[in-house]
Amino acid sequence: MAIETGLSHVYPMGARLNERGVLELGGCDALELAREFGTPAYVMVEDDLRTRARAFIEAARAAGSKAGLAAESQEGRAAGSQAGLAVGHEHLAIVYASKASSCAALLRVFAQEGLWCDVASGGELHLALNAGFAPERLLMHGNAKSEAELRAALRHRLGLIVIDNFDEIDRLARLIAEGELADRAAQPVLIRATPDIRPDTHEKISTGQADSKFGFAMDQVSEAILLVRDVSGLELQGIHAHVGSQLLDLEPIHRAASQLSTLGAFPTWNLGGGLGVAYTSHQRPPSIEEYVGAVIEAARLHLGAHDRLLIEPGRSLTANAGVTLYTVESVKRNVSTWVAVDGGMSDNLRPMLYNALYEAEVVDRFGGDTACVLAGKHCESGDVIVREALLDDPRAGDVIVTPATGAYGHAMANNYNGVTRPPVIFCKDGQARLVVRRDSLDDLNARDVL
Ligand code: LLP
Repeated sequence: MAIETGLSHVYPMGARLNERGVLELGGCDALELAREFGTPAYVMVEDDLRTRARAFIEAARAAGSKAGLAAESQEGRAAGSQAGLAVGHEHLAIVYASKASSCAALLRVFAQEGLWCDVASGGELHLALNAGFAPERLLMHGNAKSEAELRAALRHRLGLIVIDNFDEIDRLARLIAEGELADRAAQPVLIRATPDIRPDTHEKISTGQADSKFGFAMDQVSEAILLVRDVSGLELQGIHAHVGSQLLDLEPIHRAASQLSTLGAFPTWNLGGGLGVAYTSHQRPPSIEEYVGAVIEAARLHLGAHDRLLIEPGRSLTANAGVTLYTVESVKRNVSTWVAVDGGMSDNLRPMLYNALYEAEVVDRFGGDTACVLAGKHCESGDVIVREALLDDPRAGDVIVTPATGAYGHAMANNYNGVTRPPVIFCKDGQARLVVRRDSLDDLNARDVL
């Protein structure tokens, strides 16, 4: 699938400059969006989200049919597959990693498109259930799941709990002994293995290396398997591994599958998420089709006969579907030209945490050549959104866009410096709707107890 933008591929599908030279997103004029909803604001293009979700499902179906497999989809469900298993076929389920962005409207879109959903906490479980995901399409992760989180997972009998450590096996056994199993039917589980793979990505989002806080070391997995099989209310279905995020090279997936193959044969394998995205125009990540094809091929080559394969894309479903709009508050010149906007590290922590690079433009004067630093409003020198921006003669009042902020922006937003978190706006066919409102000033006091 080629996502057409008319602009660089970092922008959402269908984004373009209109006759007046103003950025248009989902058919909506960015200046009018800024006027109507204020800035900063996250703007998501709904058709782009759906197109990417369908591209994953289609790619799974296409790669699967080549290999004699069947992808799960709404049609697959309608055709009678149950709880994610298409009888008689191997099957690839696309599990949205909801940590990338978990507002209700967005989760609802992916639930409607027939995706599964991965939750990393009881809070994300709450959000996914409220958005309409069926419990049997939910998968719970976490290296430090609390008793309450496990209790909730068992009571809803989620599609899968991914067991991370020995203490969790003990805790699950105790909760089951206390009668927490829904309908007394066994709870399907996977064991998370750490395959000792270090992909080429930022160290803070690499998880497959031996010294990781996630999962069982390879030489502990066989003991974990024995212990899980000993708990009568747990049904071990297979193994999970996630080597890391923002992968621009798919080779580590093959290496991981090859390592995992030493653990034995299982009906279900989950090879995690991590497909990288383009944050800047020169980045060319693998396409959704290439990624899905590589995962299926890695499983076919290394993992023997199995009934079901799962993958957990997060950012590749949402990052490029979204942008952030800001307003310039001041422009100052010293050694550099400092363009300060009304948001920053409270709406996008990624530059601070991972030195992540972004692009920026003035929404009605694309293609400028004034070298400047796009700085946030927070009381920290490190609060810089784009270190080397090229803008067209920026001035106070200009509306600025930073593309590729649809993942881990809203999800990691915070109120540092008492800054209110931005709204989320969905655009479709020229109509804009508010799906998350901006924090009010009273929200800043909402949890205070005096
Ligand atoms: N599955 C598991 C078990 C994960 O831990 C993650 C991400 C994913 C799937 C989805 O990965 P994705 O496809 O989105 O790369 N805040 C960081 C990302 C942290 C990712 C943690 N786990 C960032 O902004 O880059």
